[in-house]
Amino acid sequence: MTSREKTLSAVVVATNKLLERGGEFVLVVTKESILIGQTEAVQDFGAWGKRDFGRPARDAQSGMLPPKLARMMVNLSGADPIHSTLLDPFCGSGTVLMEAILLGFTKVIGSDISEKAMEDTKANLDWLAAQGGAMPPIELSVSPAQTLVLSEPVDAIVTETYLGPALHGREHPDFLKRNLASLATLYRDAFGALANLVKPGSTAVVAFPVFQSKTGEQEVATRSMLESLGWKVERRLRYERAGQHVEREIFVMRRG
Ligand SMILES: C[S@@+](CC[C@H](N)C(=O)[O-])C[C@H]1O[C@@H](n2cnc3c(N)ncnc32)[C@H](O)[C@@H]1O
Repeated sequence: MTSREKTLSAVVVATNKLLERGGEFVLVVTKESILIGQTEAVQDFGAWGKRDFGRPARDAQSGMLPPKLARMMVNLSGADPIHSTLLDPFCGSGTVLMEAILLGFTKVIGSDISEKAMEDTKANLDWLAAQGGAMPPIELSVSPAQTLVLSEPVDAIVTETYLGPALHGREHPDFLKRNLASLATLYRDAFGALANLVKPGSTAVVAFPVFQSKTGEQEVATRSMLESLGWKVERRLRYERAGQHVEREIFVMRRG
């Protein structure tokens, strides 16, 4: 099988029934060796695309997490779906909540400062329910993350924080400076308060922004700031796409 791309995409493998009629071997070249893998399953790209582009409420202005990244973040939390309560305190249009529900989480809480975001989350979760499958009871509230109140502490937080206003790359340096300062205050206040809403030992997986400019990159959330609030940062992973002014840095951190 040949394709225009260097590697065969999931679509090419699936539509040509490569796994039923033949097979696909994948070579991964590392410094030490060449690993050989055989493809056993192909992602359900139709379902991923439908959740990304076919859901009723999309808000490109406030930013939407790609569903696959949301799924990876829920997985990185290591939380057991059956026995854990998962919170997204900046839930936007509900991407993380949708992926958590599809992974079988039975206790899911979402909150956001914006009424519109909450309406979007409800519309998307109703849409998900209409596709069939189990829907657990979901707690939703409109609240700033800094003053969120929960009846019980949760086991995991998975969230993409507020990334600030959409940027076009030609902003005045003073504007960028003020933006960074106000985001730093938000993150300090919010993650200080959220540290009190989780059980000790709980994991938080959080996407923070990293701003790219001609003079280099600028991160807002720092390990030292988060560690001073009681979070131990265990891993940091970068998620970027070419040409983006704002990249995401995923922090995996544990409450001491
Ligand atoms: C980048 S969006 C999250 C998008 C979400 N992951 C999704 O895929 O739809 C950030 C959200 O944070 C919300 N927000 C901003 N400030 C907040 C605050 N202080 N507390 C809680 N939510 C806030 C915004 O309303 C927005 O919906």
